Amino acid sequence: MNKSLRKVVIAGNWKMNKNVEETKLLLTEIKEKLPKTDATILICVPAINIETAMNTVIGTNINIGAQNCHWEKSGAFTGEISADMLKSFGVEYAIVGHSERRQYFGETDETVNKRAIACLHNNIHPVICVGENLSERENNITETVIKTQIEKALTDFTKDDIINSIIAYEPIWAIGTGKTASAQQAEDVCKFIRNILTEIFDNETAQAVTIQYGGSMNAKNARELLSMENIDGGLIGGASLNADDFANIVSCAE
Ligand code: PGA
Repeated sequence: MNKSLRKVVIAGNWKMNKNVEETKLLLTEIKEKLPKTDATILICVPAINIETAMNTVIGTNINIGAQNCHWEKSGAFTGEISADMLKSFGVEYAIVGHSERRQYFGETDETVNKRAIACLHNNIHPVICVGENLSERENNITETVIKTQIEKALTDFTKDDIINSIIAYEPIWAIGTGKTASAQQAEDVCKFIRNILTEIFDNETAQAVTIQYGGSMNAKNARELLSMENIDGGLIGGASLNADDFANIVSCAE
């Protein structure tokens, strides 16, 4: 399989932004501005706004996703939301293992794996985030870091599991910093990730997996990043909060 046969997924990660009214307004604007596209469009909103968001995008090709989920179906986990609950809402995608969750909320490779498996058991596609920080890049251990994150996140995965997942390569030093990895730097790591998937599964399976780049992707750099052989989409933070910018990025996916 080559790039043209893989599913392209352009995803917005709204993080902890927008209240109910603002959610309706921004999604309405995005709906109006979004170009026609064959790409899968996904917007991951705060959990409390999922229902409003879904109601606002009825009849469009926009999917609404979550930004996290817990692996247990229910129980004494104050503040958490289970994959089962997301599924009951009709959610089909959830980000897991975002670097902000790893950095501020104690997320580990083991819990990323548990969350991803819980998603898959509930027919939710996990968007599994991996990425090195600045000192790891400067110390030339990016590949070691990424390999460990991928192998641990995918523990006990079947071929179907990985095909139903999305991997997002997000170098931490490029998130929200305005510093983007060059298209070649991003491509090198995404290609490396595909090679690891070949080692764990097989080439045919690895070729079918959507791998996104995330980290200050914007309307100016998206076209070049998305044209790279192993980059099949984007996970977009800041620029997804502006309807024009997000629509422009989507138009670069053609
Ligand atoms: P950014 O965020 O586009 O604002 O860098 C990306 C992300 O954290 O998913």
